[in-house]
Amino acid sequence: MKFFVDTADIDQIKELHAYGMVDGVTTNPSIIAKSGRDIIEVTKEICSIVDGPVSAEVVALDFETMLAEGRKLAKIADNIAVKVPLTWAGLQTCKALSDEGTMVNVTLCFSANQALLAAKAGATFISPFIGRLDDINLDGLELIEDIRTIYDNYGYDTQILAASIRSANHMSDCAKIGADVATAPPAVIKAMANHILTDKGLAGFMADVEKAGIKIL
Ligand code: E4P
Repeated sequence: MKFFVDTADIDQIKELHAYGMVDGVTTNPSIIAKSGRDIIEVTKEICSIVDGPVSAEVVALDFETMLAEGRKLAKIADNIAVKVPLTWAGLQTCKALSDEGTMVNVTLCFSANQALLAAKAGATFISPFIGRLDDINLDGLELIEDIRTIYDNYGYDTQILAASIRSANHMSDCAKIGADVATAPPAVIKAMANHILTDKGLAGFMADVEKAGIKIL
């Protein structure tokens, strides 16, 4: 499973990139607003660090303006994936940009039918939002399973990009289901390394290192 980092925080991207944990980056208008930076400028900087797909989201709601925004975002770098919302205007933009050879990430997906439409519109990625479904007592992971089944039934190339991930458990659950990509905040990716028995085991080994005076260098 590929890991995308769901942030525009350059330091966090660089830190995780150094561990080989960044296959791509996703942003959205809320993430860009949080960065306090110009969308073009910060996206360009991210693309200079990361080779994989970097999602940058349009902000218009109508097809013509969305397409113009998407074309402008796509010019930032070769690895831009233009992010469009799952509306009919977004799907129309997805089809037009995909036909031009631009990667498109269709976002705000909350149902299997929406994912089916995105695949037919030629989306490179579909972003089902797990956490926001869980927030309203629905089952986000079940949606990932349903989309996996549908895409496999028909051999759609659209990659399932599990989004709105809230916990390390979501990451392993998505990997078990077979999501192609999971995008998560840096803190969630870092939390994947945590295990109380690792900490306990290491403390025991270090006590014995000290007792026995073990030295390697
Ligand atoms: C990523 O593409 C999404 O925009 C993001 O994962 C949404 O996450 P949130 O529900 O935590 O805002």
